[in-house]
Amino acid sequence: MGAKHQVDFIGAGNVAYSLAPALENAGVVVCNIFSQNPKNAKKLAQRLYEGQVKEDLDFSESTADVFIISVSDQAIEEVAREIVLPENAILVHTSGSVPLSILGYAATPNIGVFYPLQTFTKSQQVDFETVPLLVEGDNKFTTQILGQIGTLLSQNVQEVSSAQRRQIHVAAVFACNFTNWMLVQSQELMEKAGLDFKLLQPLIAQTINNSLEIGPQNAQTGPAKRGDLEILDQHVEMLEWNSDMQDVYRLISQQILDFYSQ
Ligand SMILES: NC(=O)c1ccc[n+]([C@@H]2O[C@H](COP(=O)([O-])OP(=O)(O)OC[C@H]3O[C@@H](n4cnc5c(N)ncnc54)[C@H](OP(=O)(O)O)[C@@H]3O)[C@@H](O)[C@H]2O)c1
Repeated sequence: MGAKHQVDFIGAGNVAYSLAPALENAGVVVCNIFSQNPKNAKKLAQRLYEGQVKEDLDFSESTADVFIISVSDQAIEEVAREIVLPENAILVHTSGSVPLSILGYAATPNIGVFYPLQTFTKSQQVDFETVPLLVEGDNKFTTQILGQIGTLLSQNVQEVSSAQRRQIHVAAVFACNFTNWMLVQSQELMEKAGLDFKLLQPLIAQTINNSLEIGPQNAQTGPAKRGDLEILDQHVEMLEWNSDMQDVYRLISQQILDFYSQ
């Protein structure tokens, strides 16, 4: 292996909060942390051995070789335009849907993407070993370094283009964000009826397990799959207090009915 890598972070949100300590555990030095609100940078810096708060975007004196922009998607371009970097620096973002070209105005030719295909929240630890790390570089040098760093973290590092990453991200929104939103709805229905949402936990866990083990199409069950129109009507009636929920129930049930009646 070559020299030890050093990474600086711009952004101290959900992703940075997991990724920075994981990099450190993997042998990468993580030093300067900048965030819009320095208090957030401080919280993350305190989780790191050599972490320190950076108060501005002038990184010209930094000894890092890789700079990770992990800010909200809408802020990536602004940061890329403003950041001052040392020579030969590699600048990457961590977004699923933002193209590599957004970093085109940055003051370095070494631009890339380091996208961890996982869901991150500050309160939950993520084991990076199984997280797919989807990397993209604008030149060979960048791709190679990102691959090296990725391999220190995960057993699953893959090179994907911006177009492929966008496709993966829309699929991930269905798999992760919409699935979780359904659970939010489910919780609301239970609590509205004075029932404990925890009662559904074994069902939720089994559903995900089945889907992963036998494939989602084989794992589908329920009244729509069985074509039980009477129950579907009853459920729609029970949701009269929330027309949005009724619409979602109807639309998804219809999709399931159509799919399994073919
Ligand atoms: N969360 C996920 O599950 C996940 C998974 C994979 C990839 N990603 C991607 O990773 C990136 C970061 O996501 P996240 O969930 O970590 O975001 P987040 O928790 O919402 O944190 C956003 C960070 O961006 C900073 N920020 C916002 N506007 C800024 C600006 N104008 N200038 C400088 N900094 C600014 C915030 O600073 P302050 O809080 O200090 O104001 C904060 O540190 C995004 O591109 C996202 O698409 C997220």
